[in-house]
Amino acid sequence: MRVGVLTGGSDCPGLNAAMRAIVRKGVQEYGDEFIGFRDGWRGVMRDETVPLGIPAVRGTLPRGGTILGSSRTNPFMEDEGADRVLGTLARHGVEGLVVIGGTATLGIAARFAEEHGVPLVGIPKTIDNDIPLTDCTVGFDTAVGVATETIDRLHTTAESHKRVLVVEVMGRSAGWIALHAGLAGGANCILIPEQPFSVRKVCEWVESRFRATYAPIVVIADSALPEADEVALPGVTPLPGSDTRARRMRLSGVGEWLGKEIERRTGKEARTTVLGYIQRGGSPSPFDRWLATRFGLHAIDAVHEGDWGSMTALQGTRITRVRLVEATASLKTVDPELYREASVFFG
Ligand code: F6P
Repeated sequence: MRVGVLTGGSDCPGLNAAMRAIVRKGVQEYGDEFIGFRDGWRGVMRDETVPLGIPAVRGTLPRGGTILGSSRTNPFMEDEGADRVLGTLARHGVEGLVVIGGTATLGIAARFAEEHGVPLVGIPKTIDNDIPLTDCTVGFDTAVGVATETIDRLHTTAESHKRVLVVEVMGRSAGWIALHAGLAGGANCILIPEQPFSVRKVCEWVESRFRATYAPIVVIADSALPEADEVALPGVTPLPGSDTRARRMRLSGVGEWLGKEIERRTGKEARTTVLGYIQRGGSPSPFDRWLATRFGLHAIDAVHEGDWGSMTALQGTRITRVRLVEATASLKTVDPELYREASVFFG
């Protein structure tokens, strides 16, 4: 069978591990031929391909990023983009396509499968872990590991200098990295986008932690927001109405802002560390290698079974398949009960 592969959206650790498994099983067990598309959907649209066979994936298991490159291009937003994608797939005789991506990339895949009958299957990846119907996405575990190690390291400076240390982690729409790393690293406060936070309350926690002789660590997701009535503070331009998107854009850099606000309100020295792309880079953790490999092995089976429009998923310890349309219809956010459970450590 002639099988295409693409990786789209933000890079993350484990993409190469998934491709290695797809190619190894495809070639060895099914006698497949592979074609890699460069830079996500853009490469399919522009007909830019990369040879993808066993030599290309050799040695890539521990390698971060993606050997195919990635982009956020959405062919449905480009002039004749969808037709160009269909043209490329037909020209190369692609009989099955494996799409490795987050909600946006997989959402495009779902449309091609549903509206144009493209024979494809998906593999969920994103450090944000916000794809529904799977317990975990490829990349999440590595990001949590990096963020946890950072928090561990910051404890010493917090204690030695009696400083408040704010750590800003990623999580565009969901606070999974903040919650998991915050718990694993022993943070004294975790702030997530699902739950607007009160700066006043954060400052109370900071002060109570100081009274207990420790300097606190505050973990904040980059999309977390203060409660609406706390936004109009010095240094922050008030935002119109309750337009959440505008507020989010305005408050990008919320970690820095919170650090300054804590300092201003409590008089304690505060510093912010923004983790940024460090969470997405480098070698995948053992769990991510395991998950990506198993997703890859199951995805190539789904191709050969013609289970088009499906996505591999982890449910408990089993790899299952769910429908792409359902997995991309919403985002998986942090359950309030899980957050409440973590709050016993705040302050
Ligand atoms: O999808 C992972 C993610 O890291 C988000 O948490 C973040 O908002 C986004 O990617 C930023 O990616 P970029 O700067 O590449 O657009």
